[in-house]
Amino acid sequence: MVGNRQLATRYFLAPLAGYTHLAFRLAIRELGGVGLATTDLVQATTLLSGRAKALELVQTCEDDNPLSVQIFSGKTDELVAAARWLQDHGYGGIDINMGCPMAKVNGQGGGARLMCDAENAARLVEQVVKAVDVPVTVKMRLGWDRESITSPLLAREFEKIGVAAITIHGRTRSQGFTGDVNRSAIKATVEAVDHIPVIGNGDVRTAQDALNMRRETGCAAVAIGRGAMLDPWIFRRIQNVINGETTTDPSPDEQVDFLVRHFYRMTEQHDEYSCILFRKFAAWYGAKLGIPEDLEDRLRRLTSYDEFDQIIKQIRRRHGERESTTATALIKVPNGPVERW
Ligand SMILES: Cc1cc2nc3c(=O)[nH]c(=O)nc-3n(C[C@H](O)[C@H](O)[C@H](O)COP(=O)(O)O)c2cc1C
Repeated sequence: MVGNRQLATRYFLAPLAGYTHLAFRLAIRELGGVGLATTDLVQATTLLSGRAKALELVQTCEDDNPLSVQIFSGKTDELVAAARWLQDHGYGGIDINMGCPMAKVNGQGGGARLMCDAENAARLVEQVVKAVDVPVTVKMRLGWDRESITSPLLAREFEKIGVAAITIHGRTRSQGFTGDVNRSAIKATVEAVDHIPVIGNGDVRTAQDALNMRRETGCAAVAIGRGAMLDPWIFRRIQNVINGETTTDPSPDEQVDFLVRHFYRMTEQHDEYSCILFRKFAAWYGAKLGIPEDLEDRLRRLTSYDEFDQIIKQIRRRHGERESTTATALIKVPNGPVERW
């Protein structure tokens, strides 16, 4: 349960801006096992001003359920207004971003910056909780840096003011995406609250990792981001393991079917412009499915539906020509010193 929402599983899709868009969410939900998904982070003010980009990020449909929309801002009135807007437009859950390490988000007082002032963060979240009836959740990191691990304190405060659940990425802001996920620090946050669910997050890549995260931290649920991009079947595999069933790898055809569904779901939202948008996924699918280089290259320059159909036919026919590899590096995390992100 997250607030009044009964979720089918304890394994959630974590937001990955630029990847976990509507089309990807729909494609992965069809494989089974996803308990909850969250949109990419949306700036509260751009949503309120009706900017096309923000409206696109919150676009959803009946099959894209249950869904939370993630918003960010350092300003209480903006967050409150965005939360009300979302509730008025029928969204079932609001997630406040307190984990983003990017300068453009932190510079406005949003994202991980909020974790530096627990009192201010709690007052801000409290106003959002009071303003809406739908469950409000918070996604955060362990704290700003090693000297400032604020997640247990914040989690306790958030519980008192009615936050429905908390997701913890087990790294500090200054760690960025480097170093190990600190599961004992996630555990300390789990132990700091009385009853609300804490959702563990970070570096879960296999079904066993997800179960270990729960066992080692006592968290109620697990959010999976990059692991779901690398293996969209991970949620189904987790359910297989829990149910004592054997997990089978998807056949090459099933994997290509996933790519096709992802693309067609995109066309429902973006029509033929999807050909341009889908180019970004060429390298990732290329590595993952072992698509021959010339076909990957054509996917990277895709211009029409007809061409897409031709490429897919050839991908199916020429399966096995190139070995598939783990495409980890293709999910871009910011690099360089975290201070300059
Ligand atoms: C490319 C990318 C985009 C991300 N976008 C968001 C976002 O919009 N909101 C958010 O709360 N976290 C975001 N994250 C953080 C992830 O949700 C997650 O906390 C982090 O990647 C660790 O989990 P993982 O190892 O399962 O990916 C992003 C991470 C990456 C790599």
